[in-house]
Amino acid sequence: MKKIRSPYDKVADNYDNYYCSPKDMAENQFLKKILNKYMHPGSILDVGCGTGAFSDLFPKRGITGIDPSKKMIDVAKKKHPLGNILLVGKIQLVAKEKFDNVISLFGPVSYMTQKEVLVLKKLCKVAKFWFLIIYKPDYYSRITKKFGKKTSREKILRTFAYFPNRIFYSWENYIIITNVDLTLLNKY
Ligand SMILES: C[S@@+](CC[C@H](N)C(=O)[O-])C[C@H]1O[C@@H](n2cnc3c(N)ncnc32)[C@H](O)[C@@H]1O
Repeated sequence: MKKIRSPYDKVADNYDNYYCSPKDMAENQFLKKILNKYMHPGSILDVGCGTGAFSDLFPKRGITGIDPSKKMIDVAKKKHPLGNILLVGKIQLVAKEKFDNVISLFGPVSYMTQKEVLVLKKLCKVAKFWFLIIYKPDYYSRITKKFGKKTSREKILRTFAYFPNRIFYSWENYIIITNVDLTLLNKY
């Protein structure tokens, strides 16, 4: 039997079908509005890019995407064959680079080790815009249970401590951590 290297390898082929309800579509539109307003025109790092949710919203913006699941990356490559650098692995692979925007959509940071979060923090520090969507601890517990992993509420709370100047928002099953004031969004 073929070895599963990342839990997301198991769900990659059907992943997009899980998230196409009207509620999911509404969340995506909200996200598109935020990113449209705050993203800088320069380079973008998409941490835990998965099957390419960001590129689905902004097909003309090239990204550097990174994800430990080869199968998730394979799907992203098929959907968006041009203009992206898609890497299979951990964030350490891009630790020495500099990006104008660092984004992470729908949970990847919740899976990171302490070392990985520190690399992420460094990348965010030099970015003009950074925007991370993390699972709420209880929701994360449900997900990791599904994958048979130990859950850690502390891990998510600890992640906050690494971003002392962040602003955070509660949103559906997620917490958004970012360097911009999203309440300004209503003004436009
Ligand atoms: C719920 S999916 C979200 C994927 C994509 N960002 C989206 O919005 O559809 C979570 C992703 O995090 C990735 N992931 C898991 N552990 C990770 C880690 N340590 N660093 C970066 N990404 C990770 C998974 O492989 C998966 O693709």
